[in-house]
Amino acid sequence: MENNYKPQKVKVSKIVPMSKNVKLFRLTPRKKLPANDQKLSFTPGQFFLIGVWGYGEAPFGGASSPLERKFVDFGVRKVGKVTTTLHNLKEGDEITLRGPYGNGFPLDFFEGKDIVAVTGGCGIPPIAALMEYIAANRKKFGNVYLLYGAATPKDLLFKDSYPRWEKERIRVILTVDHPTPDWKGHVGLVSGLTKEIKVNPVNTVATMCGPGPMTNALENILRPLGISDRRIFVSEERKMHCGIGKCQHCTTGDKYVCVDGPVFNFDEVQGNWD
Ligand SMILES: Cc1cc2nc3c(=O)[nH]c(=O)nc-3n(C[C@H](O)[C@H](O)[C@H](O)COP(=O)(O)OP(=O)(O)OC[C@H]3O[C@@H](n4cnc5c(N)ncnc54)[C@H](O)[C@@H]3O)c2cc1C
Ligand code: FES
Repeated sequence: MENNYKPQKVKVSKIVPMSKNVKLFRLTPRKKLPANDQKLSFTPGQFFLIGVWGYGEAPFGGASSPLERKFVDFGVRKVGKVTTTLHNLKEGDEITLRGPYGNGFPLDFFEGKDIVAVTGGCGIPPIAALMEYIAANRKKFGNVYLLYGAATPKDLLFKDSYPRWEKERIRVILTVDHPTPDWKGHVGLVSGLTKEIKVNPVNTVATMCGPGPMTNALENILRPLGISDRRIFVSEERKMHCGIGKCQHCTTGDKYVCVDGPVFNFDEVQGNWD
């Protein structure tokens, strides 16, 4: 029986600084995997546990195209012990990876619908994977909007991907709190972007990932657009340990974020959300 708790050794094949405190890490299996190997396959919204010997493990959402089999990219913000250690690694270093874990976005339910993805700051990695999936399967989805806010233009992540997503008719609408003189996008909270989009609420689903102000996004974007709570999917973040429903570190209400989530239908988690 496959032991899904067992980490695999992976090489850090690429590191790209994306902002002052976020780096992209590309992780590649040490040995070339057979073409049919599913180890790196994931659904957008699922997470992996990245481990550094002697420092521990931490959960991160896969950020690259889920159809890619040779590597997985992660956008990692430096906040504490594991993430600082990751930021100090060099290309070629070896670390561990286990997963994917959790449910991911319900892609079958999303098919045929308009999509509004709302995110802020470092909440974007799982949404980046979702945008890659949509771009590769464009005909299966209706209108797609990505509403993304960051503190400054320099804090916007995955910038190189926007032109490619736009080419696939994904409307990327950006806003920052503190513009620079050359900034041409919007200024202010992501919730100020409602007037930029027009959706048919009965055929629209929304996803939200990101820090606290997302509650504001819910009240000020999704509800005014008329999107019902059961069509809103939120990605939750909790401290995790095992990742597989055994340690109880990640409870939210009566759910485990690692196995019941991290993506929840908003209807299910109202009141548990902080
Ligand atoms: C499903 C999931 C997906 C995630 N995806 C990403 C991602 O793509 N990119 C990314 O940068 N981060 C992501 N995170 C958050 C990331 O896991 C934490 O930042 C990381 O665990 C911090 O580890 P550390 O050892 O560096 O910090 P620690 O030294 O453990 O803690 C530093 C500070 O961060 C807080 N913290 C630690 N872990 C979490 C957590 N899980 N949620 C909220 N606060 C926390 C602590 O309370 C403390 O204040 C995700 C978390 C989850 C649960
Ligand atoms: S992380 Fe152990 S139960 Fe969820």
